[in-house]
Amino acid sequence: GHNNLNAKLVLLGDMGAGKSSLVLRFVKGQFLEFQESTIGAAFFSQTLAVNDATVKFEIWDTAGQERYHSLAPMYYRGAAAAIIVYDITSADSFTRAKKWVQELQKQGNPNMVMALAGNKADLEEKRKVTAEEARAYAEENGLFFMETSAKTAANVNDVFHEIAKRLPRA
Ligand code: GTP
Ligand code: MG
Repeated sequence: GHNNLNAKLVLLGDMGAGKSSLVLRFVKGQFLEFQESTIGAAFFSQTLAVNDATVKFEIWDTAGQERYHSLAPMYYRGAAAAIIVYDITSADSFTRAKKWVQELQKQGNPNMVMALAGNKADLEEKRKVTAEEARAYAEENGLFFMETSAKTAANVNDVFHEIAKRLPRA
């Protein structure tokens, strides 16, 4: 078939959780040990073929620093999908992720496809958030859940692929 769609996607989550690193891995196949903190937001696009469809993601990588919080609605408004990112080595980042989910449930597009990504899964020895806890939270709140590593690339393409599969088709 000829099912081409454009999908606005936003990444939200605590500063340092790895939003930009996930996008850099997905879009350019790269990883930087010293990725700079995002100022405001950054835009990327990437096309993905899924089954009979081609999905062009228009990706807004937001800044996690608290002073940019008020900008977030500009990026999630009208978004078809969101990836809420936390760092598995930081309980605070998981708390912050749950706050983002609440905000999206209140203010976001009700049909939004939402993914919860527990990033830095390569740092198992520093883990503070169990996969079980995060998976249970995701299931209760209608998100799908994956642990990712922008560093090793584990599950990074998979998150975007799963979103593409779940997007409503025109
Ligand atoms: P803000 O732009 O400030 O909101 O942060 P961010 O969520 O975009 O985080 P960023 O991608 O800048 O990553 C923060 C730091 O974590 C960087 O030093 C990255 O190299 C590191 N990092 C990101 N993802 C991973 C990962 O999967 N594993 C490891 N070990 N480090 C990671
Ligand atoms: Mg960033």
